[in-house]
Amino acid sequence: MCGIFGCILRKGDAAPIIHAALKRLEYRGYDSVGEATIEEGKIHVKKDAGSIDEVHQIRNLDNLPGRIGIGHTRWATHGAPTQANAHPHVGCLEQPEIAVVHNGIIENYAELKKELEDSGHIFRSKTDSEVIAHLIEDTLTNIRREKIKSKSTVHSDFERAVLSAVQRFQGSYAIAVLSAKEPDTIICARHESPLVLGIADDALYLASDIPAFLPLTNRVIYLESGELAVLKSNTFKVTKIASRSEVFPEPKIIDWAPEMAEKQGYPHFMLKEIIEQPSCIRNTLRLQDKYLELITTFMDRAREVIMVACGTSYHACLAASYMFSKLSFLATHPVIASEFVEQHGKSVNIDSTILTVSQSGETADTLAAVETARQRAATILGLTNVVGSTLTRVSRVYIGQQSGPEIGVAATKTFTSQLSVLSQLAIRLAKKRGKVSQEEIDLLEDNIERIPDIVENIIETQHKKVENLAKKHKDKQCFFFLGRGISYATALEGRLKLMEIAYVPSIAFPAGESKHGPISLIQPGFPVFFICPPDDTRKTLIGNIMEMKARGASVIAICEEGDENIIDLVDDYIEITKGIPEVLSPIPYVIPLQLFAYHMALERGCDPDKPRNLAKSVTVK
Ligand code: M6R
Repeated sequence: MCGIFGCILRKGDAAPIIHAALKRLEYRGYDSVGEATIEEGKIHVKKDAGSIDEVHQIRNLDNLPGRIGIGHTRWATHGAPTQANAHPHVGCLEQPEIAVVHNGIIENYAELKKELEDSGHIFRSKTDSEVIAHLIEDTLTNIRREKIKSKSTVHSDFERAVLSAVQRFQGSYAIAVLSAKEPDTIICARHESPLVLGIADDALYLASDIPAFLPLTNRVIYLESGELAVLKSNTFKVTKIASRSEVFPEPKIIDWAPEMAEKQGYPHFMLKEIIEQPSCIRNTLRLQDKYLELITTFMDRAREVIMVACGTSYHACLAASYMFSKLSFLATHPVIASEFVEQHGKSVNIDSTILTVSQSGETADTLAAVETARQRAATILGLTNVVGSTLTRVSRVYIGQQSGPEIGVAATKTFTSQLSVLSQLAIRLAKKRGKVSQEEIDLLEDNIERIPDIVENIIETQHKKVENLAKKHKDKQCFFFLGRGISYATALEGRLKLMEIAYVPSIAFPAGESKHGPISLIQPGFPVFFICPPDDTRKTLIGNIMEMKARGASVIAICEEGDENIIDLVDDYIEITKGIPEVLSPIPYVIPLQLFAYHMALERGCDPDKPRNLAKSVTVK
């Protein structure tokens, strides 16, 4: 997730406006920044790795000439945060004709890059985005060379080139493009990734999100996926990319306060991030094949695979250990990073492979475990949300989980993204090891594609019910979270969310273990969550629910829709879409637990975004 911005002003310099707008978009990414403007038919570019303030100190982002320009604040997905990988990207020409900023992932960039390199284009970065600049440049050259004149006067060469280029992209994009030959125009387009236009009397703006231009105008046009807009100094035109027909969207007036706008109208980042999960999971389904392949190759060859992480990332590892075992028949060992040195410090060796999972890539305990393993020549593999973090630098191979920045201290969208990546690794490894039938693999792959829609549906249909559940239980002193098999990881995550943001002491156990001690806490009205996907553990789990009911517990089930055997037994239930394979179940089944924790925090007067005593990234041991 990155932030893009563009503006055409009637008077004044664009650069300071772009700089200020990027600062307001910084929550979308902050590892590198860049701007391009046009003056007297020349494109001027400044860009570098680092936060906006750092780059501004060195390069003065306010000092570029011209009234028209684009800007970008980056959250690296393809290629580390370096100056070359920062946006805007330009084509091959010494004096650039095209400059592009991009948010999204061009899935077929490798094929397009190869095609363009074969026809002489020279690439400077490791990004997927650079291909956009070269393809537009190439298409423009072809249009001119072949002297293909547009039959109508509706589209200029520049517009035709962008229209043709975007039709070749697979994946997601929001782009803004400048052409030195049309110095009064910005063309922007979107597929999936967000893009809005801001309409003012003396300027036009485009941005990934409204906060970028909200202090300047509150008249907004939401571009639909599949639309392209041509902005000129006092007009704009919106076209459907597929049909090339013009549409006439009406501007809307936004009455959000700036702080609200950063959260896109949501009262808290945590809620925004919970609701963003479908699109984050969709992003993880566009992972680069070569990294999945490399990581599974290392795992396949390893004598032992240890998964190391803290907190929520550890829960993702625990769930993954069931996935790897059930699908790939590979035993993996999830270990809490702060215990790794004591538990495995002496035994880890050159034959060990450490799959390290860390949203931030900077957690001190996780990095300390990695350091011990590295000193003993183990192979380090990484899964992280922050490309360029320490974890990516110390890993032999790493994969970015593509969730975009998470601002709420409680991990939500980054957890389900991690699970999605880990389940793809498990499926890939299963294929490699020939352990599962093709039919089963096909079914899993079809189902993983359904997950974003399923999550969307759960949020839509169950949110209100969960909110009421929180109202009902807001004064309870303690909760149990129980699950069997892979759902034990879901239970642990539900419990961590509730404890960290609503400050309710809670207990999570494998359901079978509760009768070995914890059940003694149960008395009438004690709230117990059961995570009950319809897997092989369900029958036994029903027995565990009955044990709790017999002692007067108030049981809340997260179960499959229409699962009457469970629904009839319990006090409250939240329903999850039917037909989700067991190994993927933690992704949808955790959603109501995240929402529950969020609403419990509100009911108890806690700020869910800033829980006391906690930091987003724990960089001390
Ligand atoms: O950045 P990491 O994934 O390494 O962070 C690990 C934990 O600190 C983190 O998951 C923490 O437990 C969160 N507050 C959970 O919501």
